[in-house]
Amino acid sequence: MTQTHAPSSNIDPCTLVLFGASGNLARVKLYPGLFRLDSIGRLPAELKILAVGRQEVTLEAWRADIKSMLDAKFKKGYNAAAFERFIARNFYHANPPTDPDAFNKLKNTLSDTSVFPQNLAYFLSVRPVDFGPVVESLAKVGLTQEDKFWRRVVVEKPFGTDLNSAIDLQAALTKNLKESQIYRIDHYLGKSALQNILLQRFTNAILEPIWNNQYIDHVQITNTEMLGVGDRTQFYDSTGALRDMIQSHVLQILALTAMEKPKDLTPHGVRDAKIKVLEQIRPIPVNELSKHAFRAQYAAGEVFTADGKGEKVPGYLEELGNPNSVTETYAALKLFIDNPRWQGVPFYIRTAKRLHEADTRISIRFKKAPLQVNEQDQNWLIIGIQPRECIKMEIQAKVPGLDINTRTIQLDAANRLPEDDTVDAYEALLLNLMQGDNSNYLHISEAEAQWRLVDPVVKAWAADKSPVHQYPAGSSDPEASKVIFEAEDQFWRYSIALGGDK
Ligand code: BG6
Repeated sequence: MTQTHAPSSNIDPCTLVLFGASGNLARVKLYPGLFRLDSIGRLPAELKILAVGRQEVTLEAWRADIKSMLDAKFKKGYNAAAFERFIARNFYHANPPTDPDAFNKLKNTLSDTSVFPQNLAYFLSVRPVDFGPVVESLAKVGLTQEDKFWRRVVVEKPFGTDLNSAIDLQAALTKNLKESQIYRIDHYLGKSALQNILLQRFTNAILEPIWNNQYIDHVQITNTEMLGVGDRTQFYDSTGALRDMIQSHVLQILALTAMEKPKDLTPHGVRDAKIKVLEQIRPIPVNELSKHAFRAQYAAGEVFTADGKGEKVPGYLEELGNPNSVTETYAALKLFIDNPRWQGVPFYIRTAKRLHEADTRISIRFKKAPLQVNEQDQNWLIIGIQPRECIKMEIQAKVPGLDINTRTIQLDAANRLPEDDTVDAYEALLLNLMQGDNSNYLHISEAEAQWRLVDPVVKAWAADKSPVHQYPAGSSDPEASKVIFEAEDQFWRYSIALGGDK
């Protein structure tokens, strides 16, 4: 984790080689992100960006295409001088899949040292089946070898589709790369709000003493969206919510919430602490699956936007055009962590498409207070991640007046102030890549631990072809998900707002 704002001069001169440069990720995130970094002076002066695509495109046409990406992203316009500087960094190389000599030609292009710095970072925004072959081809022509210069490879999500395929992919990559050269993306780790979890926990004296099973009743980790699967039906149907979100983003939030204090903030320190806690999560007993895991699919319903407008939307099976799919759009798990800090504390984690609101947060409910005056709520501590970055605490206080009664009030503090810079996760990750800081990228042990945990559930759910529970799009959590809760008085906190646990 980079601790202070490192000036761009701390980054070695390098060339970013983007495979899949005309794809959606590059258009929407990578080019706009790089441009913004350049505009605020965070890119090294010598940085060049070489786009690699299947089609023959002239440099002029490619630069015009980049301009169209920036126009689409920055509707209010952008600085002309910054644009001129940025566009001059960009080059294009055609790598047609049919050309057996393609990677030699790439090597030739890159060998022009008057243009391209020789520290090379490859960003593989390609189909997951191509991760291994691309690295193999780069290695064959000597482009992954680190002698005088560093060579790094960014691998997009998903890292495998289960534990075995992740192990195979790892074997394919490590034939030619060292672990320190591999940067596995979980874009949530580039979000400042996630990095805040670790800092908020350990840079305050008041949280750590109560962050354990002596005080905490249970923890909920939520990641819900109002959006449906959109035009990704085929991908989604072969993936499902558990693999798409829980295996990656939600388990990373859990790791940051539950880990022990890292020995330091170096990549080793942070990742070691996360790996340790991920490996301490008790395997989910598949013989009692219904008490530990719940899945559902959204049916037709109505979603409401922030301005209160309702929109009727179809159900998942209709969108997919296959009434027999058992792929979940809602997935919830109950997990236990077998270590002294968390023994006996259930972690309820959930993700869903088309829920009543988009919300990513950690909600912690504390045990009953020593003094019970009336029917009173238990304390909650909430760390909001998105859309609101905040920390909230719900506590009991006396109702003013003649009687002795308490009510719940809230301390509510924004973690993000209006004047704060908004940095996209990919901007942060691209910068970390160039700095050689992989603390916000996944270590292979994390990816493996995450697969080890979800794999048995994925397999059991895929084998069970009975119709999946349906929830109307735009509704809150299905009542039926109650089966995974340990205690009668526990259920999802459905909103961050005061009273959101009712
Ligand atoms: C992706 C998932 O990894 O994360 C998507 O594949 C999901 O299904 C997305 O919508 C959510 O990311 P964010 O940053 O918008 O919360």
